Amino acid sequence: MTRPTPAMRRAMAEAEVGDDTYGEDPTVRLLEEETAALLGKEAALFVPSGCMGNQIAVSVHTRPGQGIVLDHLAHVAMVEARAVTEFLGCRLQTVDAERGLLDPALVARSFEEASRAGVTIGLVEVENTHNWSSGAVYPLPLLESIAKDARGRGVPVHMDGARLWNATAATGTPLKTFAEHAHSVMVCYSKGLGAPVGSAVAGPREFIARARAARKTFGGGMRQAGILAAAALHAVRHHRDRLVEDHRRAKRLADAFAGIPGVRVCHEVRTNIVVADLGGDEASRDAFLRAVEANGVLLSPAAGGPGYFRAVTHLDVDDAAIERAITAVRSAVRS
Ligand SMILES: Cc1ncc(COP(=O)(O)O)c(C=O)c1O
Repeated sequence: MTRPTPAMRRAMAEAEVGDDTYGEDPTVRLLEEETAALLGKEAALFVPSGCMGNQIAVSVHTRPGQGIVLDHLAHVAMVEARAVTEFLGCRLQTVDAERGLLDPALVARSFEEASRAGVTIGLVEVENTHNWSSGAVYPLPLLESIAKDARGRGVPVHMDGARLWNATAATGTPLKTFAEHAHSVMVCYSKGLGAPVGSAVAGPREFIARARAARKTFGGGMRQAGILAAAALHAVRHHRDRLVEDHRRAKRLADAFAGIPGVRVCHEVRTNIVVADLGGDEASRDAFLRAVEANGVLLSPAAGGPGYFRAVTHLDVDDAAIERAITAVRSAVRS
């Protein structure tokens, strides 16, 4: 929903470019280097979307026929299932994790179930922050124990860190401290960070070399991509510090929603996502969404239940917009 800021557009217009499919785009290279350094990884690869970043990681980590342990509401399970199962031939070994956050006991059970079904697990996937659980953040000790357990089993961990920036803004934990518990990490420059396009995967140099080859076969090789990388670079350098404002506004939304009869806020809100439940069926939820949209407020349906909806704060939503959203939600619920 974000729009590039004037400063971001200027950075795009002035970007130095080359042919990135030959590794010759200096702006893409700079973005990849800065991203890898922030995440404490040897290398990073610019990709067109978060979905492609996750799928490239899955394709490098796994072989067809292998299973992936992940939460049932993870983006990879909800939106990317066809790509991962039909195109890459993997099997989703989903678990119903509290707030979408895996723990070693759940992972162990999953490995046992897979083994009984004759499936070898090739990857453990964690989503940090967890989109459908109101942007829940993995507590570090939990992440550490999952990584240790996976290491003991000789299985890599991939982190879908589409909103890892928000986890860091909410906790003060450096990006690299979260990232060190995963072999590979995907981050998005679009979404809350405000770039119009783009994500990255980061990991060991050898992993990224294979990811680069996979990106080509996925059709994700881009030529003068520096124009896009410049927007991403601008977002990384200038939009991370302000994420705490999004979090404060999401908390204000959640507190106000909680005071509206007929609305239940589903989780504690620590980052930029509020998931709430109207308690009714999909048709009444959709009528509600249309009513708030008529007042200029965009909310989306959410996973978790028929009455669930989601509100996301970002750099184009200021305090006045939050108050307008609260008024619109209150009046739509009433009607
Ligand atoms: C947690 C998570 N992972 C991955 C993605 C995919 O990103 P993209 O839309 O850039 O493909 C999303 C998109 O919303 C997401 O929420």
